[in-house]
Amino acid sequence: MRPESTIRDISLAPEGERKIEWVAQHAQTLNSFAAERLSDGALSGRRIAIALHLEAKTAYLAWLFHEAGAEVAATGSNPFSTQDDVCAALVRRGLTVHAIHGADPKTFDQHLLATLDFKPDLIVDDGAELVTRLHQHRRDLLPGVRGASEETTSGVLRLRAMEREGALDIPVIAANDARCKYLFDNRYGTGQSALTAILAATNLLLAGKAVIVAGYGWVGQGLALYCRGFGARVIVVEVDPIRGLDAAANGFEVLTMAEAAPIGDVFVTGTGSIRILRREHFERMKDGALLANAGNYAHEIDVPALAAMAIEEREARRHVTEYVLADGRRIHLLAQGALVNIVASDGHPVEIMDLSFSVQALSVHYLARHAAELAPGVHALPAEIDDAIARRRLDLLGMRLEEPTPEQLAYARTWR
Ligand SMILES: NC(=O)c1ccc[n+]([C@@H]2O[C@H](COP(=O)([O-])OP(=O)(O)OC[C@H]3O[C@@H](n4cnc5c(N)ncnc54)[C@H](O)[C@@H]3O)[C@@H](O)[C@H]2O)c1
Repeated sequence: MRPESTIRDISLAPEGERKIEWVAQHAQTLNSFAAERLSDGALSGRRIAIALHLEAKTAYLAWLFHEAGAEVAATGSNPFSTQDDVCAALVRRGLTVHAIHGADPKTFDQHLLATLDFKPDLIVDDGAELVTRLHQHRRDLLPGVRGASEETTSGVLRLRAMEREGALDIPVIAANDARCKYLFDNRYGTGQSALTAILAATNLLLAGKAVIVAGYGWVGQGLALYCRGFGARVIVVEVDPIRGLDAAANGFEVLTMAEAAPIGDVFVTGTGSIRILRREHFERMKDGALLANAGNYAHEIDVPALAAMAIEEREARRHVTEYVLADGRRIHLLAQGALVNIVASDGHPVEIMDLSFSVQALSVHYLARHAAELAPGVHALPAEIDDAIARRRLDLLGMRLEEPTPEQLAYARTWR
């Protein structure tokens, strides 16, 4: 083991290797970019720090950066999604890792800071975990950081808040806001993986059940779509009138949470906000209600309030905590209210992360070449790079796009 790594157990590496190899076989888009753009020398000698859910797909991204000539240090963006065998495999391959599954909040924080102490010049972040700590606790390292890219909606929100306050001192690419990311990852990736995680954790039937989806953004749309596909009655809870109307136009009922609380069999949050499910809702839920969160932070379900209401708490199944209330009703919380698809399962399907991590890989590559031209602040990935990823993926799927004729191009530019 490299001395500077902090992991559970290096002897777990063979199982981690198998997982990474499986990803490598199915990450066709990323592989094709690795074979050309990533290996053009732009990443050679760079120091890249990664804070993402540290399972096999992330490990493969980290490995491709390493193969492209970069020094890489990786940590997890949530200790419950860290897979110790994958960490061991990465260390055995020569990368630096600071991550242990289930680390307590203090240790998790130390792992993030240790990853910054690697002195990166480029950062791949999730939830702005590294970038916020860089600005708050490791300002001495700021001059060496050329830029970062951000994986998720909640992270982009935090970074924009920093930008508004004039507190963001580096350029950050909002990888989340690339169309090749949110249209597929947030929507179809979370839809499939959160649903399969809930089903695997509970072994219960969805058909005929009332599923309450809180938030009808990209994540909520995917959840609602897939739950309907499994035969559930889907009810959407929203605060945004356009998104609420969109849900209604797609055939879903739209209710307040107070109205939905006594109806729901399953509740899934995906808003990026806080305390979407709270005491006043727990008080009205049916016996056996299942609660899961697909939003980035574990604040969407008020778990402390639920625990305070309970007279008894036990692990009913792996990833399912049962809270027994004073009137005898049982409420089942999945994955302790953290990201259900990542904590109770392996996260998004490989082909989804193949697209998301193509966005991340090309964001980092773009920063390596152009960071000096970018002002501090949040930037979009150039649209031509986003388009190139979609084109490449379509090519690999054996699908072809129509080329507009010169006449059609001219027509689009005329107004008479
Ligand atoms: N589980 C995963 O793997 C995964 C993947 C991608 C994104 N995420 C996370 O999921 C969350 C949502 O992401 P998104 O891309 O859908 O964001 P989004 O901004 O597109 O959608 C969020 C929606 O929630 C609604 N909302 C906000 N407050 C609400 C409230 N109090 N009640 C009901 N609805 C409310 C908003 O109006 C919006 O429509 C973020 O935290 C994001 O980081 C998770």
